[in-house]
Amino acid sequence: MNTKELMEAEDEYFVNTFTRQPIVLDHGEGLKVWDTEGKEYLDFFAGIAVNCLGHKNPRVVDAISKQAEKLIHISNIYYNEPAIEFAKRLVDLTCFDKIFYTNSGAESNEGAIKLALKYTGKSEIITTTHSFHGRTLLTVTATGQEKYKAPYVKNLPQGFIEVPYNDIGAIKEAISDETAAIIVEPIQGEGGVNIPNDDYLPEIEKLCKENGIVFIVDEVQTGFGRCGPLFAHEIYGVKPDIMSVAKGIGGGVPMGAFLATEEVARGFEPGDHGTTFGGGPLVCASANAVLDVLYEDDLLTNCVEMGAYLSEKLVGLMDNHDIIKEVRGFGLLIGVELNKEGGEFVDIMREKGFLVNCTAGNVLRFAPPLTVTKEEIDKLIVALDEVL
Ligand SMILES: Cc1ncc(COP(=O)(O)O)c(C=O)c1O
Repeated sequence: MNTKELMEAEDEYFVNTFTRQPIVLDHGEGLKVWDTEGKEYLDFFAGIAVNCLGHKNPRVVDAISKQAEKLIHISNIYYNEPAIEFAKRLVDLTCFDKIFYTNSGAESNEGAIKLALKYTGKSEIITTTHSFHGRTLLTVTATGQEKYKAPYVKNLPQGFIEVPYNDIGAIKEAISDETAAIIVEPIQGEGGVNIPNDDYLPEIEKLCKENGIVFIVDEVQTGFGRCGPLFAHEIYGVKPDIMSVAKGIGGGVPMGAFLATEEVARGFEPGDHGTTFGGGPLVCASANAVLDVLYEDDLLTNCVEMGAYLSEKLVGLMDNHDIIKEVRGFGLLIGVELNKEGGEFVDIMREKGFLVNCTAGNVLRFAPPLTVTKEEIDKLIVALDEVL
C-alpha cells in the first residue's frame, strides 16, 4: 500500500480515537526518523516521551533480539531472570522495596491506587487539577481534566477528590478520615509542563506521614531520566510510598510498573492483583539494556546539560517572539507556553522536518531522546525561530 492508501485503510479499520499527524513513519535511528515517502524528521517528542535512547539503539535492539531467540513470554506463573534482574536494579536505585510490572502507564496507576486502597482500608483518593493519569475508568477519574471523563460521568468510580495543583492548603482541606492516598505528578506533563513550588511535594510528604496517607507519585512521563535525575521526585528530596512508571522504562517496548515500600506493598496478598503480560522476559530484557545505556553513556548528565541548553535557546527566542509567554521544564521535558493555540506550529514544524507536540492547547512540548546533541537542538531552534 502507498502512503495515501495506508491512511485511508486506517480510517476504515481503526476505532476513531486518535487525531493522527498525516505521515506514516517507517524507520528511525537516533533522533532521526523517516516516513514512507523518504522524508527525514528530527524527533523532538520521542513517541510521547518514550524513546529515551532514540530510535534503533543498538544495545536495545540486541537485547530484544537475543531475548526473542530464547523466550518471549511465559506468564507470571513462572519465574524469569530478566524481570528479577531489573527489579533488583530498580529497587537498588530508588527508595522503594518492591515492584509490580504492568504494560502501560494507566495500568501502573490503576494498580498503585488499588494497592493504596487495600493497604489503608480507606476509600478516598486526592487528585489534582490538570493532571493526567490514564484512560481506564479509574485513572480517567483520577485525571484532573473534565474533557476526558465527561462522557462516562455516570459510571466513574467513587471517592476521588480533585484539588487545585500546587495548592497545599487545598490538600489540607480535602483530607478526611477516609483519605487513602494522594496521587500527584512531580511535574505535570500532559497538563502543560506545570512545575510545582519547591515545597509542594515535601509538604505533601509531611501531610501523608502525619495522617497515615499513602503518597503516590505518577512518574509515567517524568521517570527514567526525563527530568534529569532518574526520577523527578528526587529533585524535591521526597520519599513517596508508591511510584508508577511506564513510557521510558523499556526504551519503546510496552511496559510499566509500580514500586512500593516494603510496608505499603504488604497491602497486597496473592490473588489481589495480576497481569498476564506484565514483566515478561522480552520487555524486561529491553529495560535492562535501557538502564545499562542510561548509566554507561552518562545520559542523565546529557539530559541536564542538553535540557539547560535547549531551555536557554528557547528563552532566547522570547526576544524576537512576543507570542512566547513562558518557557518552563526540567531536564528534557520542556514546555513553551504561547499566548495562542499551538496546533498550527506543530504542523508547520513537521513540514520543516521536526516532530514536536502541543499540549493543553497552547504549550509546545519538547521531550526528545536523552541522547539529543547541541547540533540537533541548534537545528530545531533555527526552524522554530522561522516558524514562530
Ligand atoms: C503522567 C502520566 N500518567 C499516566 C499516563 C498514561 O500512560 P499510558 O498511555 O501508557 O496508559 C500518561 C500518558 O501520557 C502520563 O503522562
